[in-house]
Amino acid sequence: MKKTIEEHANRFSDIAGDYDDSQDSEEYRACVSLVVDHADPGANDTVLDLGTGTGAIALALAPGAERVIGRDISEGMLDEARTKAEENGIENVEFGEGRFRDPNVDGEVDIVVSNFAMHHLSDEEKREAIEAIAELGPRKFVLGDVMFFGLPDPKEPFYSPEVDDPSTVGHLADVLTDNGFSLTAVERVHEQVGVLVAERT
Ligand SMILES: C[S@@+](CC[C@H](N)C(=O)[O-])C[C@H]1O[C@@H](n2cnc3c(N)ncnc32)[C@H](O)[C@@H]1O
Repeated sequence: MKKTIEEHANRFSDIAGDYDDSQDSEEYRACVSLVVDHADPGANDTVLDLGTGTGAIALALAPGAERVIGRDISEGMLDEARTKAEENGIENVEFGEGRFRDPNVDGEVDIVVSNFAMHHLSDEEKREAIEAIAELGPRKFVLGDVMFFGLPDPKEPFYSPEVDDPSTVGHLADVLTDNGFSLTAVERVHEQVGVLVAERT
C-alpha cells in the first residue's frame, strides 16, 4: 500500500460528494456492469461488497439478493452510500467500516464483490485480503479493478503510481487459485482494467 489506510480514507472522504459525478469513464461503467452481471446473486444470497465507496455495486445488487453488506474505510463515502440507499428505499443493505484484510463481517457470505478498490493494496496485502475473503466461504468472488494485462504504463489511464499499486492479472490468478478458487472468467476491459470471476473448486 503506497499510502496508509488513514490517508486513503481521508482522500476519499474529501471527494465523496463529487465521486459519483467524477466516475464517467466508459471503462469504469463497463466494469460496474460486468461485476454486477457476473455476481448475479440469488434471492437467498448474502453479498459482501468490499471497498464499496458510495455503493455503486452494493445498491445495484440489493434488489436481487437477500442481504448486501458494504464495507469501506472512508466514512464520507459510506455516508453517501447510506443516503442513496435511503433515498431509493433500499432496506436490505448495510454500510459500515471494514477493510479488505479485516472485513468486519459476522458469519458466512455467499458472494464477494469488489470494484475499483483493491488496487490500493500491495501484492502481498492483496494476498492477505484474498485469504480473508476465502475464510468467509463465498462460492464466488468477482473482482473488477485496475490490473495489468501487459506491462504497467503510468502514461495510460487508470494507473497513478503515487496512489495506486495494481497487480498483474497473473499475480491475482495465482493468489486466487492458491486460496481454492478457479478463474471462470477473465474480462479485459482495457490493457490496465479488468474483471476476474473466481469460483470455488
Ligand atoms: C475508487 S473507489 C471505488 C468505490 C466503488 N467500489 C465503485 O465501484 O465506485 C475505492 C474505494 O476503496 C476504498 N478503500 C481503499 N482502501 C481500502 C481498504 N484497505 N479496505 C476497504 N476499502 C478501501 C476507498 O475508501 C474508496 O471508497
